Amino acid sequence: MPKSMVSVTIDGRTIEVEAGSNLVDASFKAGVQIPHYCYHPRLSIVGQCRMCLVKIEGVPKLQTGCTTRIMKDGMVVRIDDQEVRAAQEGMMEFLLINHPLDCPICDQAGECALQDYSFKHGQAFSRFSYEDKRTYPGKERIPLGPNVVLNMNRCIQCTRCVRFTEEISQTGELGFFQRGSRTEIGVFPGKELDNPLSTCVVDICPVGALTSTQFRFAERVWYLDKTPSLCTGCDAGCNITLEHRQGKIRRYKPRTNVEVNDYWMCDFGRTTFLSYEEDRLTTPQQRDAQGRMRAVTWDQALSSVHHFLVDGAAMGTVGIVARGAATTEEAYLLRLLADSLETPHRGVLREPGPVRSIPNLNGGLTGREITPNRRGALLAGLGPAGLGPEDSEASADSATSPGEAEKILGGAVNGAHSVLLIFDGGRAGSDNALSRPAALESLRQAQTVVVLGWASTALTQVADIVLPIATHAETEGTLVNSQHRLQKFERAFLPPSGVRTGVEALSDLVGRLRSDFAAQTVSEVFDLMAGETPSLEGISLAGLPAGGIQLPVPPE
Ligand code: SF4
Ligand code: SF4
Ligand code: FES
Repeated sequence: MPKSMVSVTIDGRTIEVEAGSNLVDASFKAGVQIPHYCYHPRLSIVGQCRMCLVKIEGVPKLQTGCTTRIMKDGMVVRIDDQEVRAAQEGMMEFLLINHPLDCPICDQAGECALQDYSFKHGQAFSRFSYEDKRTYPGKERIPLGPNVVLNMNRCIQCTRCVRFTEEISQTGELGFFQRGSRTEIGVFPGKELDNPLSTCVVDICPVGALTSTQFRFAERVWYLDKTPSLCTGCDAGCNITLEHRQGKIRRYKPRTNVEVNDYWMCDFGRTTFLSYEEDRLTTPQQRDAQGRMRAVTWDQALSSVHHFLVDGAAMGTVGIVARGAATTEEAYLLRLLADSLETPHRGVLREPGPVRSIPNLNGGLTGREITPNRRGALLAGLGPAGLGPEDSEASADSATSPGEAEKILGGAVNGAHSVLLIFDGGRAGSDNALSRPAALESLRQAQTVVVLGWASTALTQVADIVLPIATHAETEGTLVNSQHRLQKFERAFLPPSGVRTGVEALSDLVGRLRSDFAAQTVSEVFDLMAGETPSLEGISLAGLPAGGIQLPVPPE
């Protein structure tokens, strides 16, 4: 049944909201902010910090906005009000009695609600004696678990972290200990804060009490540039803000998307960018007559690849294999390459991994593969030959898929596929399908192996030509997650000199095979793909909403 709508006026701005809406949430819709610490839209309401006091017409005393639901039509709320301002200043004064006034050395400075509200809603003086400030000697640096460190002096006792472990991660490691002004946060005896979502407590802590082991004191946050992106740690496709400085990623933070990861992301995903610093490839390489890898120019490398592919195609021995780390646009270009070479041997690897679960309002999101975009590659037509893009997705998106890519790799042993073009592009490491001894042994039997990747790996050791391509931070594109949601990510910074994006490298190769091919940019490649994919009809990369779009789910 559709919910009834009611109107509410907040500081003179009238909006319509669903009956029962929370007043703090409604204020954001009205473009007004009710300051708050303990309220979080996904946690139970405790009305604890008293920072959200508002005046409601017809109600004699100030009310906490976070505990107020808008039930009746015509509610009138004032935040820009003398009495409300006095209450906010009073609350700030109380909070700062015991809080260290040392923002310059606090890791949260620049993104701290206490600091921000102090400027916006506080006052420049305190009536309390600083000598009596409460402190927790020896509790400035307490590891709560492997990923989170507590500085008890900075805690404002909002209980967000406690409620998170009770209600979201449902692991219940954290609690309040002691009473009154000695109240402190801690882990229960024998426990540590070690659950797959544990670093989310750092995100929701409004002050600098909880810091992430990986990021604490690594960077001043005002130096960071922020780019909307996607986590590539698995196929859940969590939305993230990629925070970077001078071409280096410093941290991932969850970006809210209620249809996908809501406000959260997993601890594993937060670390995945660290591998981007490992053994970076920065120049194309080709094996010489003596079997040694030599640096060559891009043109030399691409001319050689073109030559090997055309010769291999003439003998019917070309295979094209991608990991599900390729973007949808890169996969589409691989498919055009396979079409131009008229090889039916093309496929994307299925790489199952640990199950990663993210809670959301729709019952949760699950990632089960170590690459983020196998479904996007199938959508782009990199599935079984002879099938259109969506048919190949439907036919291959099950655990019992024929494993075309795996067959192609295996075929190198008996000479069926002696020229192999492999698009790696995923995280380095020893846990992927292309680093396993059997796959590498099989590849050693092939006549020519071309690898596109960004890191020097066991795979590039067996390659004859290596093309260095950009990481996902250095390019843009789309990925299709485990729930078949097409989402885009933006380029955060340029790749190192000598490195091209996968789309640039593959467009060049397709252009050498097809004189009518002119697409250069990710956006142009997306348009070509959308032109022949019914579920993408009418969609452009620029027009794709920030939260992505849900594609039809093929039958299992
Ligand atoms: S540690 Fe942070 S989130 Fe937890 S109660 Fe203290 S201020 Fe709130
Ligand atoms: S669940 Fe997957 S996509 Fe989400 S943060 Fe974790 S690794 Fe990244
Ligand atoms: S946000 Fe309302 S009391 Fe804390």
